[in-house]
Parts: sequence; structure tokens; C-alpha cells
Amino acid sequence: MSAAISRTDASNVAGILYDIVQARYDEKTMETAVATPAASVIDLEAKYLFQNYARYPLVLHRGKGCYVYDTSGKRYLDLIAGIGVNALGHAHPRLMKVIREQAGRMLHSSNLYYHEYQGPLAERIAKVTGLDRVFFCNSGTEAMEGALKIIRAHGKKISPHKFETVALFDSFHGRTFGALSITGQEKYRADFEPMLPGARFVHRNDIGELQQVVGENTAGIVIEIVQGEGGVNPLTDEYIRASRDLADRHNALLVFDEIQCGVGRPGAYFSYQLLDPIVMPDITTAAKPLACGIPLGFVAATERAANAIGKGQHGTTFGGGPLACRIALEFFDILDELLPNIIHVGGYFRMQLMELAKKFSFIQEVRGYGLMIGVEIDFAGKQIVLDAMEQGLLINCTHDKVLRFLPPYILTEQDVDRAITVLKRVFKKAKPPEA
Ligand SMILES: Cc1ncc(COP(=O)(O)O)c(C=O)c1O
Repeated sequence: MSAAISRTDASNVAGILYDIVQARYDEKTMETAVATPAASVIDLEAKYLFQNYARYPLVLHRGKGCYVYDTSGKRYLDLIAGIGVNALGHAHPRLMKVIREQAGRMLHSSNLYYHEYQGPLAERIAKVTGLDRVFFCNSGTEAMEGALKIIRAHGKKISPHKFETVALFDSFHGRTFGALSITGQEKYRADFEPMLPGARFVHRNDIGELQQVVGENTAGIVIEIVQGEGGVNPLTDEYIRASRDLADRHNALLVFDEIQCGVGRPGAYFSYQLLDPIVMPDITTAAKPLACGIPLGFVAATERAANAIGKGQHGTTFGGGPLACRIALEFFDILDELLPNIIHVGGYFRMQLMELAKKFSFIQEVRGYGLMIGVEIDFAGKQIVLDAMEQGLLINCTHDKVLRFLPPYILTEQDVDRAITVLKRVFKKAKPPEA
């Protein structure tokens, strides 16, 4: 082979050097950028934003890997990762490269035309889900709306009475009307009743109740294999199999909402793949980590389920844009190699938390798979979250008493050790609030 550098090689070398210099420059600029003081950020929001979020008093400025920095430069280990979105942490160099490249080429093209990345991404998703066809959208709730429209269209082809969807108490499927209608937590629905007709709720892991409620009018059964917002509650294998059998018996579609518990987080591509043998859904939905912070969701379905939706019956302006799809393709390339880390570090994390459970009797249970972990305590966890934040650790609390960890997939054992040290300190001074 000739040692001479060809023109193409020369421009590649120049390109690589440019990337390195640019990345260093970006990093330096981000580190030295003057942040807006936290108080003025908070005050301005208080004046002009809908007051629908109960935010923690923390203004984030930048992130690197598993760490984020606030406007004063204080560092935090980020174990909530944008509620399970920042799967590769912050400022991942491979994602930064793809984003920079695609931003200079095309950000948006609409679904009037083809672009080069939806097809390859759909093929990738079909392979990893074991399903046939994919629809792209922008968020979890939108993915659920898509799934619900398929359920309705499927039922309607069989009978005008077949429009019921069976879902679980403690579930969470999103904030838009369809997704909210099948969300089994009254606190989210109460102020907006009446909901869509046809939602029926059953208790998780109660097969007898499921058998009673699923019938000829059931068009779909929707479950999270591990309920996220409901308190990190895994369903039993038997219950998931019973859902499949009942859906088949009554010609209903079985939907797995993998928005929080899927896309690598359980240590497999999807949590239904943890079952042996696997139980296949007719539809699976996903969103959160797909494009690592750029909005992207999908509905993946079998040929039969996907055929319920014809041309013009569903769509979106933004869904599946070239930027989001390219990032997701890059993410899947990286995820292939990360799955063993998720299993290994997730297992290590749960083991360390179980050690803590031996020392602190208020810990009721440690639950979850891979890097989706819940620690149930016997009092409201809000103060623990605030104390951990004070000590440089970001976690959150769901369902009032479940401390939840949804860290980036690049988490290391050293990061876990750091988190455990902080938790130990916080737990030592934790006191159940006075009754
Ligand atoms: C299981 C599940 N489904 C749906 C949603 C809604 O997703 P989004 O907030 O992107 O609309 C969430 C969000 O937390 C979720 O956890």
C-alpha cells in the first residue's frame, strides 16, 4: 500500500482535525460561558410560565457524561437523566458530531417527502422489536395516541361495540386525552373528566380480574411490563402471558408501553425480551431515550395491526425528522455495545442498594431491571430527593414513596459507589415527617 496521502485522505484528515479542534473549542466555550444567575431564571419563569410544573429549585446549565452543572458551577451526578431520556449522558461526542453534521444539511423535511433516515431506522426497529412496521412521532403520549387509534380501528372492523381498552391501575401512559383516558391514576384524570369512553382498569398481576374484564368488546389490552410512574412495579411473567392469551382469545391487540421501561434500559432492547420464552406484543410504543434528548417516539406493530391504519388516517408534521432519526441510528449503534454494561452496572447498583436496605429499616423493597430501579421507603421521599440534590446527587421520587433511578446507560461502578456514599449520608439523617 502506498504511503502517499491522497486528496480524499487529506480532506478526511483535515475533517478529523477540524472536528477535534471544534470539539475542544465547544467544550471550552461551554465551560466558560457565563450562566444566568439562578434567581433571575426562577423569577422570570414564575412571572411568565404556566405554573404547571413543581420544579426543584435547581437551574441546570450544562452536562458532560453522567454529570450536570448548575449555573453556579456546582456538579451533580445525574441519576434521573431527564426522566430516562439522556441514555448516553450529556454531550456525547458521537451524538455531537452527528448533530453538527445534520444541522448543516437539513433539520426538517416533513412527511410530505422521503428522507434518507426513516427507512433505515424503521428497519433497525423492526429487527430489534421483532415487529413489522413502524410509525414515528415525537413523544410518549403521541406514541400512545397512535396505538389507541390502531386499537379503535382494529375493533371497529370487527364490531361497533368492540372499542374497549383494558389498562392497569397505577399505569401512566401520557397527558393527552387518549393516553390519559387509559392512565390508571385518578389524580392525573380527575380534573379533566369525562375521558374517552371504553377504558376499563384492572389491578396488576391479578389474572382472575383480567379474565373477568377482558371480553368480546375488548379491542386492546395496554400494559407497561414495568410500571414507571406508578412506582417501578414489574408485572409477573404469568400475568404478561395471561394478557397475551386473553388478547388472542378475544381478538384484541396486546400493547406494551415500553416508553420508560424499554429501549435498552432493562438490559435488553425491550423489557418483554426479558421473558423466557419471549411474549410478543401486537404493538409496542417507545420514546424517551430514542434520540437521547431530541424528541422522537415510535409505534411498532405487526403487519396485521399496522394495516388497521390506512393512508391519511394518521400523521404528524414533526415526527421522524432527519435529525432525530440520524441520532437514533447512531444511538442504536452505540446501544448494541452498551447492553452488557447496563446489565452489569444495574446489577451492581441493585446489590449496593440491597446492602443499604439491611442498614436502614425504612427501606421496604429494591425493585427493577437493568438501569430502571425503584427503592420503596415507608414515608414520602421528597425530602430525601432534596437532601440528595444538596449533596450533588440527582434522583427523583415517584408514587410518593418510591425513590427512582433512571441513570444514563454509560454509568460506571465508580458512579454507583459515589451515589451510594451520598445516599448513605442522606439516609442517616432521614426522618419520617411527623404525622
Ligand atoms: C410508561 C410511559 N408512557 C408514556 C409516557 C408519556 O411520555 P411523554 O411524557 O413523552 O409524553 C411516559 C412518561 O413518563 C411513561 O413513563
